Amino acid sequence: MCGIFAYLNYNVNRERSYILQVLFNGLRRLEYRGYDSAGISIDDSDVSSLTISADLKAPQSSSISLTVNSLPPLVFRQEGNIESLVKSVYQEVAESQINLEESFSTHAGIAHTRWATHGEPAPRNSHPQTSGPGNEFLVVHNGVITNYEVLKETLVRHGFTFESETDTEVIPKLAKYVFDRANEEGGQTVTFSQVVLEVMRHLEGAYALIFKSQHYPNELIACKRGSPLLLGVKELVEDLSDGSSFNDDNFLSKNRQPKELFLSSDANAVVEHTKKVLVIEDGEVVHLKDGGVTILKFDKEKGKHGGSLSRVASIQRALSVLEMEVEQINKGNYEHYMQKEIHEQPESLTTTMRGRLIRGGSCKAKTVLLGGLKDHLKTIRRSRRIVFIGCGTSYNAALSSRPILEELSGIPVTMEIASDLLDRQGPIYREDTAVFVSQSGETADTLHALEYALENGALCVGITNTVGSAIARNTHCGVHINAGCEIGVASTKAYTSQIVVMAMLALAIGGDAISNEARREAIIDSLFDLPNKVREVLKLDEEMKELAKLLIAEQSLLVFGRGYNYATALEGALKVKEVALMHSEGILAGEMKHGPLALVDENLPIFVIATRDACFSKQQSVIQQLHARKGRLVVMCSKGDAASVCLGGSSRVVEVPQVVDCLQPVVNIVPLQLLAYHLTVLRGFNVDQPRNLAKSVTTQ
Ligand code: F6R
Repeated sequence: MCGIFAYLNYNVNRERSYILQVLFNGLRRLEYRGYDSAGISIDDSDVSSLTISADLKAPQSSSISLTVNSLPPLVFRQEGNIESLVKSVYQEVAESQINLEESFSTHAGIAHTRWATHGEPAPRNSHPQTSGPGNEFLVVHNGVITNYEVLKETLVRHGFTFESETDTEVIPKLAKYVFDRANEEGGQTVTFSQVVLEVMRHLEGAYALIFKSQHYPNELIACKRGSPLLLGVKELVEDLSDGSSFNDDNFLSKNRQPKELFLSSDANAVVEHTKKVLVIEDGEVVHLKDGGVTILKFDKEKGKHGGSLSRVASIQRALSVLEMEVEQINKGNYEHYMQKEIHEQPESLTTTMRGRLIRGGSCKAKTVLLGGLKDHLKTIRRSRRIVFIGCGTSYNAALSSRPILEELSGIPVTMEIASDLLDRQGPIYREDTAVFVSQSGETADTLHALEYALENGALCVGITNTVGSAIARNTHCGVHINAGCEIGVASTKAYTSQIVVMAMLALAIGGDAISNEARREAIIDSLFDLPNKVREVLKLDEEMKELAKLLIAEQSLLVFGRGYNYATALEGALKVKEVALMHSEGILAGEMKHGPLALVDENLPIFVIATRDACFSKQQSVIQQLHARKGRLVVMCSKGDAASVCLGGSSRVVEVPQVVDCLQPVVNIVPLQLLAYHLTVLRGFNVDQPRNLAKSVTTQ
């Protein structure tokens, strides 16, 4: 939800046009996080070349601004996607005769792309939000401030007027209030980080923030609690004369070489500039000033997303190196990210399994190795139950893995949608293993459920695609799915990799019981062959496009599945509804007679999943009953089974390769992903940016 980005060039000349390009490109990379409005702030003049004079004892900061010789920062905000912002900025620049060639030796710019939570998409609700006329303090924000109403009331009492309906607006106004009070009281000059630390003490909720201020030219402050944020550092002098190296703990604070610094909600917007990053931790305040980076941390924090912050300490951290490549975040030869991500599943699945499956020599059994779990397997095996917790597609992936985990481990497995667990405050025990499944590792509902499970003493396991994410960091142990960066808002390759990881989890927990040996080996063999089978099923692309053409004008689509493929029905329907904007419902076929059958007639299209597994004969009988009501069916069956599923009526058949039952959902979801993709394109909707949605839901 929302993407924030900043670019600071230190001691290296950059023209305004270049700075704008870096900010716009950063936003384009983050656009999948929210795309209903956007904004940026840049400087009006090269403040580093101006004489600075100030009287900090004067009562009104606006009249004593440190940048008395500079103009207030420029702010551009626009409703719509990034390209609407780009267009409007260049228009305004041309109208105001702002010089695009003007060069800045040091400059700090900030940017934001929004997924609206408080207030409709409109320029006034877009970010940067400001402290008021003069733009003394500017803030871009990802997250939600839960106590903004109380703060707003207080600020209104102190004479502030509000323009937006956002929760964010209280932040720059609070910064101005803190700054003005410090100056009224006189004495010492208040630093930018002191202002922000004081602001942070008053904020409750989840946030990642970047501050820019007219009073602190060429400085930026970033801070976070709950929402993700990282710093990228690009040294412009290869040979560091002081002998420092970027993995020295104090490298950031002492290094004053020319450089470019980037702040971003995620690595996508940074990797094309640098791979040297610092993942900012909760409670940290990162101050970029004079080429150095100072990190301050609240060392006592009550509660993760609320409560109070107390003592502050200065800390030193080393940079780490991103393991991703720029190519991973480009569309390559595909038209859309969703299309690319569907088609790269043979490769993403291979990466998910790499180094984790052991085929064994002549005397060695086939086995799996999940390094992140090895110290906790005994505890997991002793659990009273395993609880899967997630949202949306991640929940569906867990649901499809439940039967194999129950079968191999013998431990009861229960399912929890994260928000529902929290709404009910459902019981979680010390003897439970709670498994948190999340592509982004940042989903607010799942993160809050994790806090809840930790408070209740459960062993918490994370299954995420994002190294360093909040869920990865806050769980006791876990497995990364290594599916590679997923940019399409509709999750596809992460889903199949999650299922594979959970099958491996089931094998690891199940251990090497002799009674399960044949089953285990069959699953491992099938895992090895899975990328090939997915390659094969992807050949149905054209067939699914033809089917999409037949369904293009439909109002609704039902998807029936059971057993391992109940989750496939839910996930297929979710894909169709979220991108093709067509009503679609996944239905447990066993429940058909208990209500859904009433909907069946000769018009409503119904997709029935009837691949070979223990439920096959029951699905045959479902098909017969649907035919008896003249149902308009498309049946997915295993290769060669067409005759066995066209019972007593005519249906369109989609034949897919057969794999072991617990991995069949990986194969079966692919035609449904393709169907959703083609339906969307044919219906003329935006595949990668579905209406009202955004990747990474970091608000509850
Ligand atoms: C659907 C989709 C969402 C996410 C859900 C959880 O295609 O992407 O349903 O699965 O918002 O997100 P993560 O997995 O990041 O926790």
